[in-house]
Amino acid sequence: MVESFPQVSMYLMPTVLATLLLTLLIHSRIGILGGVMMTVISGFLSGFSVDLLLATLMASLATAFLAYRVRKRSHFLRIGLGIGCTYFLVIAGFQLTQSTPWRDALQLGFLGFLNALLIAVTSYLMLPVLEHFFDVVTDVTLLELSDLNHPLMRKMMVEAPGTYHHSLVVSSLAENACERIGANALLAKVGCYFHDIGKLEKPQFFTENQGYLYMNQHDDLPPRVSFEIIINHVRDGVRIARKYRLRRAVVDFIREHQGTGVVYYFFKKAMDMAAPSDRVRADDFRYPGPKPQTRETAVALLADSAEAATRSLQELTPETIRQLVRKIINDKFIDGQLDECELTLRDLHKIQSSFVRNMTAMFHTRMKYPTVDRPLSAPDIFGADQFSKFRADE
Ligand SMILES: [Fe+2]
Ligand SMILES: [Fe+2]
Repeated sequence: MVESFPQVSMYLMPTVLATLLLTLLIHSRIGILGGVMMTVISGFLSGFSVDLLLATLMASLATAFLAYRVRKRSHFLRIGLGIGCTYFLVIAGFQLTQSTPWRDALQLGFLGFLNALLIAVTSYLMLPVLEHFFDVVTDVTLLELSDLNHPLMRKMMVEAPGTYHHSLVVSSLAENACERIGANALLAKVGCYFHDIGKLEKPQFFTENQGYLYMNQHDDLPPRVSFEIIINHVRDGVRIARKYRLRRAVVDFIREHQGTGVVYYFFKKAMDMAAPSDRVRADDFRYPGPKPQTRETAVALLADSAEAATRSLQELTPETIRQLVRKIINDKFIDGQLDECELTLRDLHKIQSSFVRNMTAMFHTRMKYPTVDRPLSAPDIFGADQFSKFRADE
């Protein structure tokens, strides 16, 4: 009987919980390190029971492997079953080799399986609390945020459609580039979705939204006032993000995506309007910053500038796109915008080629198709005759 074993409760020790949470919150390598430490601790507590030591170690390795790329909360069931099977096989298998009656061996193995299920349920419940407490973001939460049905994204789609489209393109560019340089592509994708939410405050003042929905609002404003409105989208974005309880890692994209860059359009307008005695300085037309602190936010800054600049291109060809991307990255580098992140020159080359490939695929498909003149007698559902027919039917 199971009761005859002195350390039955040892089989229910949640030793693998540490591995699971460390893997989810930080990294699988840290999770494995935690697993090794917990194996040693469980060894001391169980009087170095070989099956428990083996089971804890193997279950920790299985946990780090299974939890490495958790993308949905439903994956916790899979993790629980995976760890449970590992526990069961190691404990029951070891006991059977020790001539333990098979019934007792299976019961101990089942305790290990139960332990794993409890660990999966506990981690499922604890994860959101720990994320909030330590202000970190896991892939599970990022994937939930990447749903375009988020209220902020829906609001942006309706009230600032130009910004919405811009954000999707920037997101796609940043995601691919981050994948190329081995940075967190999912974080970059989600961060870029939200990077310009501050524009929701005054969407009509941003060029991408002007034309169809809104007229240009800057014509009658002094350049300094226009500049203040433009740079405030960063401050407003941070405020909106906090209101919607976005994680710090996402808010960093809002705060850092413009760096301390110059708003050249209004700087130039101010110079054009200035009296000869006036001194207009570029530094007076800079975003307040901070500069990007991580590789992901730096890639977002570059993708944001590159996408915005393509709108001024008269001719979108692979060559013009390539030249533009090189110039943008070069200018940002020389302006010191990448000084505080860990991007290397090798990374910049990879980012450049990733942007060019993606932007060429996105924008260079607008080729002219050959057309065949339609005979006048051909039917046209939108033709004047058809309209008069419908009107006659009404
Ligand atoms: Fe922006
Ligand atoms: Fe942007």
